[in-house]
Amino acid sequence: MPPIIVAIDGHSSCGKSTMAKQLARRVGYIYVDTGAMYRAVTLYALDHHLFRADGSLCADALRQAMDGLCVDFVLDPSTSLPLTTLNGEVVEERIRGMEVSAHVSPVAALPFVREAMTRQQQRMGRKKGIVMDGRDIGTVVFPNAELKVFVTASAEVRARRRYDELTAKGQQVDYDDILRNVKERDYIDSHREVAPLRQAPDALLLDNSHLSREEQNDWLFARFCEAANR
Ligand code: DC
Repeated sequence: MPPIIVAIDGHSSCGKSTMAKQLARRVGYIYVDTGAMYRAVTLYALDHHLFRADGSLCADALRQAMDGLCVDFVLDPSTSLPLTTLNGEVVEERIRGMEVSAHVSPVAALPFVREAMTRQQQRMGRKKGIVMDGRDIGTVVFPNAELKVFVTASAEVRARRRYDELTAKGQQVDYDDILRNVKERDYIDSHREVAPLRQAPDALLLDNSHLSREEQNDWLFARFCEAANR
């Protein structure tokens, strides 16, 4: 079976990464979480004080820094899962916190940030055999992907999942803050000018509000087998 590209797009916190990761492991493909790349750029901007006191971003300063900014992945030897690195430092934990979540959308909306990340993502998929999740994978990064899936769930279900995930890690978070953040990101992600979140016409739609993890994994694996054998 020749390797294929699997593009998984959808709303924030709808379990895309979990199902994408699981599929990649099951079929021996590389897994790339492109949201982590935008999160790492955002962490850089926060660490370098590129957000003004009013919350707006100094885009010019970030543009100048982009050439010297390297976002990549290394494999965790104990789990074989990718860990995000920023200029060589593992930042996996830090990019998942609320501060990065609250600042990432305006960073991900910048054309020069998207160009740099898209180029790198396309390089990663040159040999196929990859499962990539994000917002614009089936529409912009790999418009010819053999399998495209668009995942969604209600905002309340997604906020609850994120709340459970963060509290399980011991973080003190408020459900209403998370719900607000989920809705805000949906709006910004779908209304930005460059590469807005939208379902590709040839993507399969999956609403997983009422599916168990196992049910969605099995659904995705079945779609993968169909696409890989086509
Ligand atoms: O999937 P996530 O929540 O980790 O994504 C973080 C942010 O990055 C989110 O606001 C959308 C943005 N993003 C994007 O614009 N394009 C992608 N391919 C992936 C994520």
